[in-house]
Amino acid sequence: MVIQTYNLTKQFNGKGGFGNISLSVREGEVFSFLGKNGAGKSTFVRTLLGILYPTSGNATILGKRIGNVEVRKEIGYLPELFQYHNWLTGYELLFNHGLLYKMNKQDIKYRIEEVLLIVGLKGHENKKLKEYSKGMKQRIGLGCAILSNPKILFLDEPTSALDPVGRKQVRDIISNLKKQGKTIFLNTHLLSEVEMISDRVAILDKGQMKKIGTMTELINSPVIVSVENINENMVSELKKFDPIVNISNNQIEICVDDSNIPKVANTIVRNDGLIYMIKRKENLLEELFINTVGEEDER
Ligand SMILES: Nc1ncnc2c1ncn2[C@@H]1O[C@H](COP(=O)(O)OP(=O)(O)OP(=O)(O)O)[C@@H](O)[C@H]1O
Ligand SMILES: [Mg+2]
Repeated sequence: MVIQTYNLTKQFNGKGGFGNISLSVREGEVFSFLGKNGAGKSTFVRTLLGILYPTSGNATILGKRIGNVEVRKEIGYLPELFQYHNWLTGYELLFNHGLLYKMNKQDIKYRIEEVLLIVGLKGHENKKLKEYSKGMKQRIGLGCAILSNPKILFLDEPTSALDPVGRKQVRDIISNLKKQGKTIFLNTHLLSEVEMISDRVAILDKGQMKKIGTMTELINSPVIVSVENINENMVSELKKFDPIVNISNNQIEICVDDSNIPKVANTIVRNDGLIYMIKRKENLLEELFINTVGEEDER
């Protein structure tokens, strides 16, 4: 396990923060923490990083207690609402960041060129940060996080300031980092992002972990087929794939794996059904999320 926490708790004078969180993050996975504003996502990450001292419980990263200096070298961190040194250029920020990581100057220069290409800021490195747009700031922050080529990345809402194109680019960067074997811990409220890139997700509400699992463990998303001519034979045959076949008007809802979709279609057609559309039900993560955390305001 790359990250392991045991009843980890951080409160501020008995309030806020998060409580009794035990979880494991495996090597090479994208693990997402999902929660409303104030759920405790950033406090959790800051506690793991050793920036905040836990109230109780404990945790290890790469087998070492949190705060271990050797382990910190293996961690990249993109904080939320990162405050930039506006008088520096993008290049200078990255360079200074490399120095903080005690990288050698030649390595920093070499790595900055790679990082600028990865985060899409090549050509903007000599502009001052005060001239950067919000999206560019978020990218340079991501650049700082990956500069030292760390094994683990904590990204606290890495796409909150980005437009849809920028979001896709960051998702692609995250996917590439995953391909390189990095472990990524992501804080976000963007459900679509979680669906697209996470291996596992935990839902946090008012400091408590309510759900944890892979997307398929958490949501069993049915396939919806629009069919004309639904009949008894058809439905009884479909029940072999899923005993609970839901029918309403000209729609069949059935829970099957992708590999069984052609067989479902075939069964319908053999029984004289006319298929107009087949698709998987969407936005179920949103449904699960709202059902889990409720719709009332943040705490
Ligand atoms: N330094 C602090 N002192 C007192 N309370 C704090 C402190 N930091 C966080 N909190 C409280 O702890 C709770 C969790 O905050 P946190 O910033 O971790 O939430 P979050 O899930 O990251 O929210 P967001 O999505 O808005 O970033 C909130 O109630 C917040 O007010
Ligand atoms: Mg936060």
